[in-house]
Amino acid sequence: MRASIVGRLRAAGCVFAEDEADLLIAAAPTADQLDDMVQRRVSGLPLEHVVGWAEFCGLRIAVRPGVFVPRRRSEFLVGQAIAAARQSASPSGPWLVVDLCCGSGAVGVAVAAGLSTLGQVELDAADIESAAVQCARANVTTVGGNVYQGDLYEPLPPGLAGRVAVLVVNAPYVPTSEIAMMPPEARLHEPLVALDGGPDGVMFHRRVAAGAPDWLAPGGCLLIETSERQAPQTAAAMTAAGLMAVVSMDEELDATVVIGTLAAGA
Ligand SMILES: C[S@@+](CC[C@H](N)C(=O)[O-])C[C@H]1O[C@@H](n2cnc3c(N)ncnc32)[C@H](O)[C@@H]1O
Repeated sequence: MRASIVGRLRAAGCVFAEDEADLLIAAAPTADQLDDMVQRRVSGLPLEHVVGWAEFCGLRIAVRPGVFVPRRRSEFLVGQAIAAARQSASPSGPWLVVDLCCGSGAVGVAVAAGLSTLGQVELDAADIESAAVQCARANVTTVGGNVYQGDLYEPLPPGLAGRVAVLVVNAPYVPTSEIAMMPPEARLHEPLVALDGGPDGVMFHRRVAAGAPDWLAPGGCLLIETSERQAPQTAAAMTAAGLMAVVSMDEELDATVVIGTLAAGA
C-alpha cells in the first residue's frame, strides 16, 4: 500500500513522496479516507491542507483550505521577534504581542510560545479574511490569545494602543505582476488576498509602518517579513514612520526581516 501511494505521489511531482506518504498514512483514519487524501494531494492541494496541519517552529499549527500555509522561512521572523524582545526592557505586566495579517496565527503563536519562558504573554492577532480568523482562533486560543477580524489595526482593542512590545507582521508582499509566476500550490490554493502585496509588494508594509508608532510601547519593536529585494523599501517605510530600522537576513532560510524600534523615550 505504501509503495503504491509513494508511486502516485511521485508521478504527481511530489519531491518528498516517501515522507508525504508516511504523513498521509498516519493522518488518515480509514483506508477510504486515505485514498481520498492521496487523491486530493495528487490533484495539487498543499499537503498541509490535506492533513490539516503544518509543522512550524516545532509546533503543530492547524491549517485549512483557503488559509495561507505558514512557510519555513517565517521561522526566522519568529526567532528575530523573540531575540528583539529579549534585548528590550521587560514590561511591568505581560509581554503584549500582536500578530497582524495573522493567517493561521502560526507566527504569533510561535512568538508567544518562545516568550513564555520570559514571563506572561498576551497575544492578540488579526486578519481580514474570515477563513483565516476561524483557523487562527483554533491555534491562538491554545496560548490564551484573541483573534479579531478586520483591516490591519482597525479591529484591535483600543486599549492596546501604546503598549505593544512586539508587533509581528507577515503581510502579503508578492508584487501583483509576479503572482502569475508563483508555484501552482500557492497560486491556485491560497487566496489572492494572502499573496498580493500591491504594485511593488510593499503596499502593506507602508501602511503597517505608518500605524505602528500609535500601537508600540516605548522601546517596542515592529518586525516585518519581506524579501531581500524589497527590504530597502520596507526599511524606508519604517524610517519614515520614525522607527529605527535594521535589516536582518538568513541565507539558509532565504529569509529577510526588517526590525523597527520605537525610541524608548517616545
Ligand atoms: C502572507 S499571508 C501570512 C499569514 C501568516 N502571517 C503566516 O505567516 O502564516 C498574509 C495574510 O494577510 C491577510 N491580509 C491581507 N490583507 C489584509 C488586511 N488588509 N488586513 C489584515 N489582514 C490582511 C491575508 O488574509 C493573509 O492571511
